[in-house]
Amino acid sequence: MNIGFIGAGHMGSAMIEGLLRAKTVAPENLFVKGGSSGTAEALQEKLGFQLIKEYDALKACKVIFIATGASIVLDILKQAAPFMAKDTILISVATGHTVAEAQAVLGETIHVVHAIPNTPVSVNAGMIGAVFADMPAPTKAEAVRVLKSLGKVEEVSETILGTFGTVAGCSPAFVDIFMEALADGAVLEGMPRALSYEVIAQMMLGSAKLALETKKHPGELKDGVTSPGGSTIKGVTALEKNGFRYAVIDAVKQANS
Ligand SMILES: NC(=O)c1ccc[n+]([C@@H]2O[C@H](COP(=O)([O-])OP(=O)(O)OC[C@H]3O[C@@H](n4cnc5c(N)ncnc54)[C@H](OP(=O)(O)O)[C@@H]3O)[C@@H](O)[C@H]2O)c1
Repeated sequence: MNIGFIGAGHMGSAMIEGLLRAKTVAPENLFVKGGSSGTAEALQEKLGFQLIKEYDALKACKVIFIATGASIVLDILKQAAPFMAKDTILISVATGHTVAEAQAVLGETIHVVHAIPNTPVSVNAGMIGAVFADMPAPTKAEAVRVLKSLGKVEEVSETILGTFGTVAGCSPAFVDIFMEALADGAVLEGMPRALSYEVIAQMMLGSAKLALETKKHPGELKDGVTSPGGSTIKGVTALEKNGFRYAVIDAVKQANS
């Protein structure tokens, strides 16, 4: 099956890497159109997919992703629509538009999915929120199969897709800052920088796995680490004193505004 991409920036390239890594598509069956800055060309040299310059090369693609900036996505879809074959699945990962708006531009013969992924899709560990237009069950199953090769897929209502995108899509940056700060603390206390990053990343992976597999409330998991008068509760107290929870809640609110 051929897959097409319009836009190979941060998110487009993360998905391209994930799809190739999962072997969902072979490089010769992956057709990518980039913008004007040469980002797609540089990625093509590394990954060996088919670099295309015109939308007509998308005709042979069963699934097409669009990953351009939000303000131009509907204009680009308008230009590309005449070159999409009947029953193409169009997956937009761009923010700032609705399924109905994309459908209006593309026409009823194209099956629209609005999906908000996050950068861990590049290692097939993404969290993807998806809204599906009405489409035949086998078509939807095909879209889900492709998305699932990039990570976990949650079908959500359009009203919460924005917040879903904030929590799943923006938070990797929040987590990265937390990891960096934890490592700074470790280095301050004398631990080597490289070892700190490795220990912290594994600790976060393990904590996430524990939460997912036990389904325990985060508070219960935290209680399990904090012994009376111990070092962890002292650290927790320092976080609370410095407004950690409020800082995180406000980060979500600001990112979602
Ligand atoms: N980054 C994330 O974590 C994330 C998460 C969820 C959703 N999103 C959404 O995904 C979309 C892309 O985000 P991003 O972070 O990947 O932005 P980005 O790095 O700026 O990538 C956008 C890409 O679109 C390309 N482009 C512009 N016009 C084009 C055209 N006519 N044909 C083909 N490609 C074109 C640009 O190419 P040139 O620069 O070469 O012109 C650029 O590489 C946004 O709508 C964003 O809201 C992003």
